Amino acid sequence: MKILIIGDIYGQAGKLAIQQHLPLMKEQLSPDLIIANGENVSEGGKSLDKKDYEDLMAAGVEYFTMGNHTFKRPEFETYVDEVDNIVRPGNFKAFKPGRGHLVIEKNGKKFLLFNMLGAGLMPGTHVVNPFYFADKLLDKIEYDVAMLDFHAEATAEKIILANYLSDKVSIFWGTHTHIQTADERILNGTTAYITDVGMTGVFDSAIGADFEAVTQRAKDNIPAKFIEAKGPVRINAILITLYDNTSKPQNIERIIINP
Ligand SMILES: [Fe+2]
Ligand SMILES: [Fe+2]
Repeated sequence: MKILIIGDIYGQAGKLAIQQHLPLMKEQLSPDLIIANGENVSEGGKSLDKKDYEDLMAAGVEYFTMGNHTFKRPEFETYVDEVDNIVRPGNFKAFKPGRGHLVIEKNGKKFLLFNMLGAGLMPGTHVVNPFYFADKLLDKIEYDVAMLDFHAEATAEKIILANYLSDKVSIFWGTHTHIQTADERILNGTTAYITDVGMTGVFDSAIGADFEAVTQRAKDNIPAKFIEAKGPVRINAILITLYDNTSKPQNIERIIINP
């Protein structure tokens, strides 16, 4: 069994790349499940409006995970409770619409998909400790294969949590930094792991955004509205292969496509 996981899709350029190339990726890779991080698709790299959600599903994305930008556009709250394939971080401290986990029945197995935010270096976001949150969730839910999108900034936090959960979580991928890391592995023989899947968006950019506004902010601390960058796009993803008999991870492969 194969699972294709696409890193943060950034802006309309990222969406268009998925619309144009996911059909071919499906043909070449034959994934049984397709999951994408959708926290940056809509205007200015914020959240996932309904049209973008529908367009990406029509392109072949089956399940969405999210991140710290989940609720940056109010439209998200108007439809998230009506759909059954979006998982937003479960460990927000305050009550939020939507769901933090989902059980997907596939090939006679129960796949638990969940999403959490990191506790470190995430200004303005108040979260429940992800270690305790994951322990509680994994004790409560019945599953065969647990899959976690850990949306966090700090590389150490990601690998420490992955190691801590490695007897329970079979697929653990990081998102949020938008930079694909070259450290994919089968961790402890039990967990397909990568620190960050990377981004699907304009590559020569400030992780998806146009350089001008973000440079003003970084250089002189001038508040500026983020604008989506323009230019050639890169698709970052991973492909996980599970053993058919045990559903344990067999292989993790990084994917970089420059369409
Ligand atoms: Fe992101
Ligand atoms: Fe993020």
